[in-house]
Amino acid sequence: MLPPPIRYTADLEQLRDDEADTDASLEKSFDHILETTAEDYGHAVRAVHAKAHGLFEGTFRVHDGLAPELAQGLFAHAGSYAASVRISTNPGDILDDNVVLPRGLALKVDGVDGPLLAGTEGAVQDFLFVNAPVFATARADQFAGKLKLLAATTDRAPGAKVALSTVLGFINTALGKVGLESGALEGMGGAKQVHPLGETYYSTVPFRFGDHVAKFRLRPISPDLTALTGTVVDTKGQPDGLRAAIREASAGLTGEWAFEVQLARDTEAQPVEDASVEWKEEDTPFQQVATLTVDAQDSWSAEKVARIDETLHFSPWNGLEAHRPLGGINRARHRAYKHSSNFRVAANGCPVAGHDA
Ligand code: HEM
Repeated sequence: MLPPPIRYTADLEQLRDDEADTDASLEKSFDHILETTAEDYGHAVRAVHAKAHGLFEGTFRVHDGLAPELAQGLFAHAGSYAASVRISTNPGDILDDNVVLPRGLALKVDGVDGPLLAGTEGAVQDFLFVNAPVFATARADQFAGKLKLLAATTDRAPGAKVALSTVLGFINTALGKVGLESGALEGMGGAKQVHPLGETYYSTVPFRFGDHVAKFRLRPISPDLTALTGTVVDTKGQPDGLRAAIREASAGLTGEWAFEVQLARDTEAQPVEDASVEWKEEDTPFQQVATLTVDAQDSWSAEKVARIDETLHFSPWNGLEAHRPLGGINRARHRAYKHSSNFRVAANGCPVAGHDA
């Protein structure tokens, strides 16, 4: 028998004295990255996760008949919502796909009902994921320290290699944490260039889940996606090889992902303030509450590039109060995402939806 889920209370979060300093340090590093890349490309891009590889329009379907502990917030009632998806890799530079990097998946669910977090623009709920179950650092001040080193190496093409080794350090840390350092890593500390559509994506950090607290996961379930799990994309000589591989697969697939929640049941084993601790599935399993579906489509159409890559802004702070981001890493994301988005609006001179969030 599993212990019952803990109840959400504001005092699950423990603020640190240095959080304003951390925010300022992050902002300084991001400014350096944003200004360098904008000058380099003649166009402002995201401070991290700058390169998109696949863009999708789909449907997010909340299941009917969920158990009371799962029927919370957006998931309180069955429903079907329009959704937008952006698949990325994590550096702030636009790099050659010959290099293997951690992946991100950002999901925006449109037309949600209920009280929104202050600053959310539109009735949306964003969910952001990466393809590892834990974050690279426990706390935001540690992340700010690593980012400072990375920002210092952000430069025109020759500098990219230096930036990479720092980014690869992040991969090794994240994979090492879950015991994948041997076997899964190849050559100079890189991982395999696996197909992004076959990967499982994790929120890595916790969120309020109505009366409870949860981490989220997006797991491929349709045969068209699971067939891609673990397959290696040959990106040699193809700087945008991931984009090409996703586009080729997307032209004929039905993509279905299980949206799953993992409820906190023990504040020691499932901490809110330490993003480097994996919440073990044997202690608290992931449970499916919704399905994300995408039909066959052009994952790099000019229309989607203009709408999703250029004008949408994804942030964990765009959403329902019932899914408030929790913990120090999430608190540090509040100002950082808004700052990066505002920079794009100012530099590119066009509106970014949700940029106030
Ligand atoms: C202190 C920790 C973090 C900071 C400071 C940070 C900062 C940022 C910033 C500034 C952006 C660009 C936003 C924009 O310009 O629109 C971004 C994007 C992103 N971040 Fe984070 N992040 C942090 C942690 C995380 C975590 C824990 C995840 C895990 C799920 C994550 C996943 C993503 C993804 C997927 C994107 C791309 C969003 C898109 O496609 O537009 N980040 N992050």
